[in-house]
Order: sequence, then C-alpha cells, then structure tokens
Amino acid sequence: MSPTVKHVPTTPFDDQRPGTSGLRKKVRTFRQPGYLENFVQSVFDSLEGFRGQTLVVGGDGRYWNLEAIQVILRMAAANGFGRVLVGRDGLLSTPAASAVIRAHRAFGGLILSASHNPGGPDADFGIKYNTGNGGPAPEKVTEAIYAASRQIGEYRTLEAPDLDLSRPGATELGGMQVEVIDPVADYAALMERLFDFGAISGLLASGFRIRFDAMHAITGPYAHAILEQRLGAPAGTVINGTPLPDFGGGHPDPNLTYAHDLVEEMYGPDAPDFGAASDGDGDRNMILGRGFFVTPSDSLAVLAANARLVPGYAGGLKGIARSMPTSQAADRVAEKLGIPCFETPTGWKFFGNLLDAGRATLCGEESFGTGSDHVREKDGLWAVLFWLNILAVRREGVEAVVRTHWAEFGRNVYSRHDYEGIPAEAASGLMAHLRARLAALPGTDLDGNRVAYADDFGYTDPVDGSTSSGQGLRVGFEDGSRIVFRLSGTGTEGATLRVYLERFDPDTDRHHLDAQEALADLIHIADGLAEIRARTGREAPDVIT
Ligand code: G6P
Ligand code: ZN
Repeated sequence: MSPTVKHVPTTPFDDQRPGTSGLRKKVRTFRQPGYLENFVQSVFDSLEGFRGQTLVVGGDGRYWNLEAIQVILRMAAANGFGRVLVGRDGLLSTPAASAVIRAHRAFGGLILSASHNPGGPDADFGIKYNTGNGGPAPEKVTEAIYAASRQIGEYRTLEAPDLDLSRPGATELGGMQVEVIDPVADYAALMERLFDFGAISGLLASGFRIRFDAMHAITGPYAHAILEQRLGAPAGTVINGTPLPDFGGGHPDPNLTYAHDLVEEMYGPDAPDFGAASDGDGDRNMILGRGFFVTPSDSLAVLAANARLVPGYAGGLKGIARSMPTSQAADRVAEKLGIPCFETPTGWKFFGNLLDAGRATLCGEESFGTGSDHVREKDGLWAVLFWLNILAVRREGVEAVVRTHWAEFGRNVYSRHDYEGIPAEAASGLMAHLRARLAALPGTDLDGNRVAYADDFGYTDPVDGSTSSGQGLRVGFEDGSRIVFRLSGTGTEGATLRVYLERFDPDTDRHHLDAQEALADLIHIADGLAEIRARTGREAPDVIT
C-alpha cells in the first residue's frame, strides 16, 4: 500500500535566501524542525512542470548528508516527481551531479554541500538547486525560492521509513521510482570521452609519478576509480581518499595553506612529478609541479593554449571566459587563437549563459575553479585530467610547460591578498573611500605607474542583456598591470577584503622572481590607495595565494 501524503503545517524562516552557492548555514540551523523541509518545499513551490519528471539528488558526504537526503526523497515523492536518481550512499560530487542531470535529461537536481567549508555537527551544511542544464539556478530562480520561503504555510511529505541507499538498484517510494546509482559511472564515462586515457596511462606507466589529495572529501571515490583503477596509477596515488563526515577535521580547500599533506610532499626531497587536490564537493582544483605552484589564472591560460592536444577540445575553443579578478593571462591566449575572451563578475553562475549559448568553451576563476562546457559547474578532477593529458602529449613536466608558456605569452605575475574577518563597517568604509577616489585617478602617476583607468566593474550579460553592478573596484595602469579590490561574497564571519594584484612581464630574465617580490611596488600602491593598514588595523594579509 502506498504511503499517504502528509500536509504538514509550517511557518516561514526569514533567513532562507540562497547566496552565491545555494543556502549555506550551520548544521544546527538546518536541524531546526522544519528548516530543511521548508526550503525544499520552497524550491518545489517555485518550479513548474516537474510532475512525473526526474530529480537528481546527492551530496559531498559531509555530516548530516544522508539524513537530509532521506527527507528530500520523501518530499520529492509527496510532491509528485516521477523518479529520483540518487548517488550510492548519498554521494555525488558537484560536477558529477551536473553530469548526471545532463546525461539523464533530468528536470533538475538538489546538491547537498557547503563546498570547501568544514563539516561536522558544529560546522557547515548547504543545499542548492541546479536546473536542467546542470548548472546552479540563476538569480531569478533563487529569488523565487526565497519568495516562496517567505510565505510557506505547509510542506508535503510521506509517512515512510528511510530507504537503503547503500546498493545500486531501483525501489519505489509512494509511487515515485528511486534509483540508487553509482556516483562515479556517468562522470567517468564523460571524462573518458574528453581525454586520451591511453596517453595518460602511458605516461603513468613510464614512471611519471602523481599524487592526488582528496582531502577526506568527495573526490576520493572518483580519483580512486579514475586515476588508480582506470588509468593504472599505483595504489596510494590518492591520499585522504575516503570521504569523512567531518573531512578529518580539516578545511577541505585546495590551496597552499590547507592542502598541507600534499604541499609538504610536493616541496619535499622526493617529490612526485605532479600533484593536485580538490575541495569538499569536488569542483575546485590546485595543480602543482615538483616544488612549483601553478596559479589558477595561469592554469586556465595553459589549458586554453594547449586545448588542441586533448581529444575533447581538438576542434578548437569557441571562446574563453574568466572572472574579472582572474589574471589576464587567458586574454593573451584568446587573442592569439583569435577567439573572444569574456570578463564576468566573480561567481560560476555568470558563465552559464555563455556556455549554453556556445560562446565560451573554457572558463576559469582565480579562486581555484576551472571548467568547460562539458558540465555547468567547475570541475576539479576534470582539470587534473586535462593537465595530465597535456603532459602526456608534450612529455614535459609542469614547471617546463608553464615556463614555456610564459616565454611565449609573457608572464602575468599574480597574487591575491586576503584580509579576513574585518569589521563590516571598516570594510565598507574602505571600499566607499576608494570608490570616491576612482574618478580622479586616470592620468595620475602612482610611484611611477600611470593610471590608465579606474572604475567600479559592471557587467552586461551578452546573451540575455541582464546587468550586474558593483562587482569590484579596478585600477589599471598603462603597462597592463592591475589592482582589484573586492569584498568576498562567500564569507561567514565579518567581511573579507580581497586585493588582487597583477603585473604583466614579458622579460624571461625576470620570470624566476617570486610573485610577492615582483609585485612589491603594486602591493605598496594598493595600501596607499585603499588605506588598508590604517582602516583595517592589519599589518599584513591573513592569506596570500
Ligand atoms: C565560490 C564560487 C566561485 C567564487 C568563489 C569566491 O567558490 O563558486 O565562483 O569565485 O566562491 O568568491 P568570493 O566572493 O569569496 O571571492
Ligand atoms: Zn566547491
């Protein structure tokens, strides 16, 4: 007998407006009675035409993932979905969820993740809705969800026990089909179509040593299956490869500070040839050579310049897109290739229209995100395979490939300085003061650098004409150098000021310089312009990438 649908009366929570990447809160917030249910019902209430359709559900395996999924399954059935595809054990990386939505022509998907934020009972949880193109819901959808959450009066669920999600196979729940799928299969098949697995296996068989740090997060199962089982990398190549609900107590963010196990090894005496890491939900990546860090901006440029060596991109790129603060290294590649380079605000969602319209093929951000039109999310393991495919064809190391790239295109020396947890008022005061100075800057000379332009970045989407203003303050110099100031849109405590510094240097004799050294004068100018030390009381940034 089918369980009956229950209509449960509820009242609105006033804090369910999705942010940059869905609704992200502390676990204890999500555990309030009705909190998750209200949000999920608000998602369903804001959608039309899903009756009988397919929904994809999965998450990064963090604490409370499975409990949340059981709630969602009952609610999806009670609301009339025809079928749910759910990853085994409730697991799906963010890019794999995007791939599954696209491969199965699903109506949409619910992804449970707080990305690179820590997990555990006292840490973070998140949920976001992705549309049928596999990408994060655009603002008009997230605003509709928020509006629905403000007037919700009841949610619909079933009186039914939890389902066993530990084995692939189909069951039925209140008239809805629930299919537990292998979380890796569709994704791995897609990677196999894009990359030359034979060439990469050959590279690994030749003694080229790689290390992949899954940071106790979602990419463990994917990396074990693809790098070790399919491509033949020796067991042990993947470290921290079992997803843990609290990510082993770590901060699953692939950068030089948090991926310490990997960084220690790659800068140590017996370093492998190639190292990489991904984040909590598998969409970010960091690429390292032996004692050599590839900035995400350079990574995008190198992938673009070498894309023709990779089967999935051998036909050429339609265009490249990068977020505004990302360095202009990719622009130089686009120019040489004779293709457009789009400059968008920070946030992966701004790439969706360009990808859907076939105007861009590769996208990247300085915040360790790289991806392409194969899905509608950034994709960590994809970037790793792209690099390995290039190295397999070129038979060169990471550092050699980057240095050759700099010699050909010039080096866009780049660094980001973060000042974290500064009082909101100090941060907005700093930005307001700087914004007021911008108009007077062009034509003036700052420590011998002539200002070419200074503005508050705004964007008009070339596909749908929508506009976004106030996306970061830019000061550009005549030699192509730039300083960009913005406040982070993803922080949870206080404000985070990000200062992005970039200098173009065509001179190979200077390419060995440390970025901080090469950027010293811009760092000094940035402090003078924005009065960083005076207004934040900080002598130095908290994080430098
Ligand atoms: C998330 C988004 C990215 C964004 C990054 C940094 O990872 O998906 O698109 O670049 O956060 O954003 P923030 O506003 O903190 O600089
Ligand atoms: Zn992420």
